[in-house]
Amino acid sequence: MSEQVRGRFITVEGTEGVGKSTNIAFIQTLLDDANIPHIVSREPGGTPLAEEIRNVLVVPRDEAMCELSELLLVFAARAQHLKTLIEPALEQGIWVLCDRFTDATFAYQGGGRGISVDLISQLQDLVQGRVRPDCTLLLDAPVDVGMARAGARGALDRFEQEKQTFFEKVRGAYLQRVEQEPDRFAVVDASADLNTVQANIAQALIAQIDLYNGGRHG
Ligand code: TMP
Repeated sequence: MSEQVRGRFITVEGTEGVGKSTNIAFIQTLLDDANIPHIVSREPGGTPLAEEIRNVLVVPRDEAMCELSELLLVFAARAQHLKTLIEPALEQGIWVLCDRFTDATFAYQGGGRGISVDLISQLQDLVQGRVRPDCTLLLDAPVDVGMARAGARGALDRFEQEKQTFFEKVRGAYLQRVEQEPDRFAVVDASADLNTVQANIAQALIAQIDLYNGGRHG
């Protein structure tokens, strides 16, 4: 019997209001059309326990959350998500499409809150071992465009309540990640019209599907 080819781990990132949900639904249709078994998940969250931690992270509260608590909660949720959902799926050849992952930690806790990249990298190694996304789609748009869209959705969560300067730092940190790992990222201009955005996403995804099929049949 041939060895099970590992599923591919695809993450979708971006600042608030860049259209992650719409485009994740689009990616699902691409994977369905290609008969690729997959699950869709999100961070923080993805399992009942991790979703409880998400709630603690996103719901606004009177007590200010200190930066280190925020960082550790994000990684606590991630440890649970990886161990109980992501890793078992990938091992069975199932693709995991995840709405945010550790690039968001480098962007929000690193860029936004100013926590050192070294500390985040250490936690990344501790929690994830060698697991990293195979491909990350960064939906990039000017911060004011995304903030206007997020604001139109209704009540703002604890992160969405941050000011524009916070999100400028988050966006800058994402773009820095792209410079450091250009091969892993596909950057899509999310301020373009939806057809153009989705044509660019499809191009990146087809490359991933070809790699996977090469592994399966080769
Ligand atoms: P969402 O709005 O994309 O569902 O994500 C919830 C918030 O969590 C979002 O504002 C970004 C934030 N977040 C972090 O601050 N660090 C992380 O590592 C992740 C995964 C999300």
